[in-house]
Amino acid sequence: MCGIVCYVGKQKAKPILLEGLKRLEYRGYDSAGLAVQNGPHIDCFKAVGKIIELEKKINDLEIEGASGIAHTRWATHGEPSEINAHPQTDQEENVFVIHNGIIENFYILKRKLEKSGATFSSETDTEVLAHLIARNFDGSLQEAVRKTMTQVEGTFGLAVIHREAPGEVVVARRGSPLIIGVGKDGNFAASDVAAMVRYTNEVIHLNDNELALITEDQVSISTAQAKAVTRAIEKVEWQPEDAELNGFPHFMLKEIYEQPETARNAMRGRLELSEGVSKLGGIMPVWDQLKECRHMVFVACGTSYHAGCVGRYIFERLTEIDVEVEIASEFRYRKLNFPPNTFIVAISQSGETADTLAAIREARRKGARLLGIVNVVGSSISRETEAGIYNHAGPEIGVASTKIFVSQLVILTLLAVLLGRHQKLSLTEGVEAIKALSNLPDLLRRVLSQDNHIQAIAEKYYCCNNWLFLGRKYEYPIALEAALKLKEISYIHAEGYPAGEMKHGPIALINPDMPTVAIVPQDSMYEKMMSNIQEVKSRRGPIIAIATEGDRKIRELADEVIEVPPTLEYLYPALTVVPCQLLAYYCARFLNRDIDKPRNLAKSVTVE
Ligand code: M6R
Repeated sequence: MCGIVCYVGKQKAKPILLEGLKRLEYRGYDSAGLAVQNGPHIDCFKAVGKIIELEKKINDLEIEGASGIAHTRWATHGEPSEINAHPQTDQEENVFVIHNGIIENFYILKRKLEKSGATFSSETDTEVLAHLIARNFDGSLQEAVRKTMTQVEGTFGLAVIHREAPGEVVVARRGSPLIIGVGKDGNFAASDVAAMVRYTNEVIHLNDNELALITEDQVSISTAQAKAVTRAIEKVEWQPEDAELNGFPHFMLKEIYEQPETARNAMRGRLELSEGVSKLGGIMPVWDQLKECRHMVFVACGTSYHAGCVGRYIFERLTEIDVEVEIASEFRYRKLNFPPNTFIVAISQSGETADTLAAIREARRKGARLLGIVNVVGSSISRETEAGIYNHAGPEIGVASTKIFVSQLVILTLLAVLLGRHQKLSLTEGVEAIKALSNLPDLLRRVLSQDNHIQAIAEKYYCCNNWLFLGRKYEYPIALEAALKLKEISYIHAEGYPAGEMKHGPIALINPDMPTVAIVPQDSMYEKMMSNIQEVKSRRGPIIAIATEGDRKIRELADEVIEVPPTLEYLYPALTVVPCQLLAYYCARFLNRDIDKPRNLAKSVTVE
C-alpha cells in the first residue's frame, strides 16, 4: 500500500527519489519522506500529506548525495504525522529505514528493546526495524539486515541505509513487493516498476526471504540464510509515458479512454478466427489438466472480484465448468474441500493484493491447482501460481480500477472460449465469439463518444446523496461495480442490487431524490428488467437507463438513456460498465473530489 523507491549511483539522489515518489503516490499518500546519504552524513526530511508537501519543503535545499531511500505512506500503525512518516531511525540516527508491510511481533520486540535502553519516538512498527538493524550492525549492513530478518515476524518490503555504509542500500522482502532496477549510471529499487521506468526497463524481482546489497555498480542477492542467489535480469514492457497524464486531467479518465486499446492488447496475438478459438501460451504448462477441469474457483477482491462474477456467467454459457466466485478475504477462512482437478483462478490487477495471495496459498495447501489473471508482470501472484494469463494493459495509476476490469472480462472470455471449444462449444459459436471480441474495441469507442451526454447527466444528479444500481444476470456484477466506482471516488452512498431483489427490501428506499441506474441492454433479462424499472417508476424514482442503441421502449420509462451498441449477451458487460465509470468520474469531478487519490484508499492493498 505504501511506496518505496531507492537510488545509488552517480547522479544527485534527491530529484530521482522525488520523481520516483510522485510515480508511486497512487499507492499511498498520507505522508512521505526521504533520506539522502553523502559519505557519513544523512539528510532526512518528512512531510504530512501528498508528495507535493515534501517537495515544497526541500525544493530550495541543496541536498548533496548520490544515494538514498524514499517512501510514501498509507498509515497502518500510528496516524499520518511527520513522526510516523518514513524513514524511521534509531536513537543515534545511524540507521534510516523505510518499510511496507506489518511487523506482527513489533510490540514484543519494542518492549524488549525499551528494556535494554532504546527510546522510541514514533508509533510505527517500522521503528523497531531501525533499532534492531542498528544493534545488529557490526560493519556490514547486509549482515545486520539478514540477522534482523530472523528476528521479525510479519511482512516487509524494506530498504535501509547506514551512516557507516555510504554508497550502499540494502533491501529485503517478505510478502511485500520489491523490485531492483539495473541502470546505466546507477541502480534502483522500488516497490513498483512505475518508480524506475523512466530510468531503466531492466529489472530483477526479489523473492520472499531474500535481501540485496545495492551499490552504484553492483547488485548482489542472497537469501536470509546467506545463500547467494543468481537471477536473470528481465525487461519490462512499460514505457515512461504510460505513467503520464498525456493531457488528461486525471489518470482515471485517461484509463477509461484507453479501454479500446486495453481490450485490443488483451487479445493481441490470442485470436484464431478460422478455428473459433483463442491461444493462451501462459496456460500451456497446465493444459493437460486444465482441459479436463470441471470445477473452478475465481478468487479476487474489489473490482477484480466483480470481473470474476461476470466471468462465472460467461463460463456457464461457454463451458461445462462449474465456477464459484469468492471474495479472497473470506475464502481463506472457509472450510475448503475441492473436487479433484479443481483450478483456483486468482484475478488481480496488481498481483500483490494480500488477501488474494493468502487465498491462493491456502488453496495450494489444500491441493488445488493455481492459475493467475494478472496485469503486473513478475508480481507475487504471477509467480506463486502455476500458470496464467497477463493482461498486458500497462500501468493502471488511478486508484479506481477501470481499464483493467474490461481487460479482465476479455481474458476471462478468451479462457472460456478456449476451454469451451474443448467441451461443448461448436465451431460456429467459437467463431461468433472471436468475431464479437475483435469488434469490441470499436464498440467501446462508440460508448466513449457519449462522454458529453454522460457528463450532463452527472451534472443533473451529482447532488443526490444515495444512488441505486440495478442489473440482472451478466449485468448484476456491473451494478455492483458501478456502485463501488461511485462510492470510492465521489463518496456518494450507492448500492448495487440484482433487480429481482428489489421487492425483498430495497424498494422501500425509492423516492424522487434517489436515482436508479438500470443496466438494461437487450439481452435475455430485458423483459424482467423492464418490469423492475416499472416498479421504480411507479414510486417516482428517477431512472437513468443504460440500454441498447435504438431501444424505443426504454425511452418511455427512463428519465435519461445512455446507449451502448448491440453485441453478444456475454460481452455487454464490457460495454455497459463504461457509462457507469464515466458517471462516477463526472459526479466526483462536480463534487471536487481528489479522483485519482480518493481518501483512505490505496491502489494496491498489500495488508490483510
Ligand atoms: O490489484 P487487485 O486487482 O488485486 O486489487 C483489488 C482491489 O483492491 C481493487 O480492485 C479495488 O477494489 C479498486 N480500488 C477498485 O476500483
